[in-house]
Amino acid sequence: MSNAISQEVATRRTFAIISHPDAGKTTITEKLLLFGRLIQTAGSVKGKRNDKHATSDWMAMEQQRGISVTSSVMQFPYRDAVVNLLDTPGHEDFSEDTYRVLTAVDSALMVVDGAKGVEERTIKLMEVCRLRDTPIFTFVNKLDRDTRDPIEVLDEIETVLNIRCAPIYWPLGNGKGFQGVYNLYTDTIHVYEHGQGSKIPEDKRIQGLRSDEAKALLGAYADDYADEIELVKGASNEFDLEAYQAGELTPVFFGTALGNFGVRELLDDFVQWAPAPRARATETRVVQPEEAPFSAFVFKIQANMDPKHRDRIAFLRVCSGRYSKGMKLHHSRLGKDIRISDAVTFKAGEREQADIVVSGDIVGFHNHGTIQIGDTFTEGEDLQFTGIPHFAPELFQRIRLKDPMKTKQLQKGLRQLSEEGSVQVFMPMRNNDLIVGAVGVLQFEVVAYRLKDEYKVDCIYEPVNIFSARWVTADDPAKLEEFKKKAYDNLSVDGGDHLTYLPPTRVNLSLMEERWPDIKFRATREH
Ligand code: G4P
Repeated sequence: MSNAISQEVATRRTFAIISHPDAGKTTITEKLLLFGRLIQTAGSVKGKRNDKHATSDWMAMEQQRGISVTSSVMQFPYRDAVVNLLDTPGHEDFSEDTYRVLTAVDSALMVVDGAKGVEERTIKLMEVCRLRDTPIFTFVNKLDRDTRDPIEVLDEIETVLNIRCAPIYWPLGNGKGFQGVYNLYTDTIHVYEHGQGSKIPEDKRIQGLRSDEAKALLGAYADDYADEIELVKGASNEFDLEAYQAGELTPVFFGTALGNFGVRELLDDFVQWAPAPRARATETRVVQPEEAPFSAFVFKIQANMDPKHRDRIAFLRVCSGRYSKGMKLHHSRLGKDIRISDAVTFKAGEREQADIVVSGDIVGFHNHGTIQIGDTFTEGEDLQFTGIPHFAPELFQRIRLKDPMKTKQLQKGLRQLSEEGSVQVFMPMRNNDLIVGAVGVLQFEVVAYRLKDEYKVDCIYEPVNIFSARWVTADDPAKLEEFKKKAYDNLSVDGGDHLTYLPPTRVNLSLMEERWPDIKFRATREH
């Protein structure tokens, strides 16, 4: 083990933000970058309006991607920590990538709209976090607007997301009457001042909820707040670092991302409590982040980032050792050694340490088609990291060729795109259809565009009656055979030759699961 590496690793905090569209992910990201001094004023990260509306135009999207390469991983120093924030594609470009980014982080920040509470996308993203018991911080946003009763919001998080809440701060009012947040542990009021959103606001605090200064601030409401906070203290969970790091309890913060308030409080505790990179499992052994030999796995492949070079970048999460330029690496799946000379790294501003790339950091390799999602790179040892799954698609279309002579090209294109993780492909057992599955609608558009651009095949999509996909296995081969006969009409093999059940409705799926207790229906499959 290397001492220098372990000191570096201990500073890393690698995380992603999970939220429902419009809860405030972009806004809070911007404020985090402000505190990390990556930007000087908020409001400068990206033209959000364009971002939201140009997405159905793939060329425009591509151009945006070109610009946003560096924004898919943002590294900044904060206090003694080096923070890596991994962007999770959202809105229309929501895709399997969004899920897979969550396999590459050590913790996550959940942003909840204080007026809306827990929303559908957040529920899905939390399910993915659950696969690895990812520790979660919670930020209840938009307190400058009228929100729901915070007790109710916490209750909802606990019941819907099945995680215990430990409020660290408590809001003093909301909407026009929002005055700040109160730290339940230090008896300090952090005072909100309106109109400080574009910069780092002054850190104004009042010690003691019952102090004269607090009474002057809270006026007639002072006693009401004091009573409410007594109640909250008695009724809520106490923060417990171990339970948080095990993914069982979430510390909760309140504020307004737009007003840049509450974000500093969140970040201060985040760098203290969020876990540094931990050991990762491979098929053969557990890899410690402090080990000297380098290892990393691919969690995302981004295509055509620069339209002039038909190029793809494979994003790797470093798990051990230290990356250095020109390093010779072993591509475990292919059993080949390659020299990586032009990797993309994501540096924390001007800091010297930023040149050191260790566990928790991300590197990007240029990829000309040989790298797949889930691939492991090492300094020689044959390792395969586990826990980078395929997720069952939720949207399906039948894909048809305009020119039937091009079947071979279509199959080749679809195979490569599915290996890259852009989309999933299913071949029904009962006919020669090709079914494409995705979790976000834009994935279909991207695939059609790339098939035409890179493989010269013109495709059209047709609707198909499929509700979801489940990878099926059984311990008893005879039972599996029996199931295959019965479910034949709805069975397919996927791009990796795995048997998949494609139920037409939710009811079908439940019925089958009930009737076939010996068959395992999995919603995820390992690469
Ligand atoms: P997202 O990335 O999660 O989709 O959310 P985003 O940050 O884009 O925020 C969605 C909308 O909510 C934006 O308004 C944003 O300004 C607003 N917002 C975010 N945080 C707060 C907050 O703390 N208080 C209030 N009042 N609003 C907040 P928009 O009108 O859709 O976009 P824009 O055109 O104003 O940027």
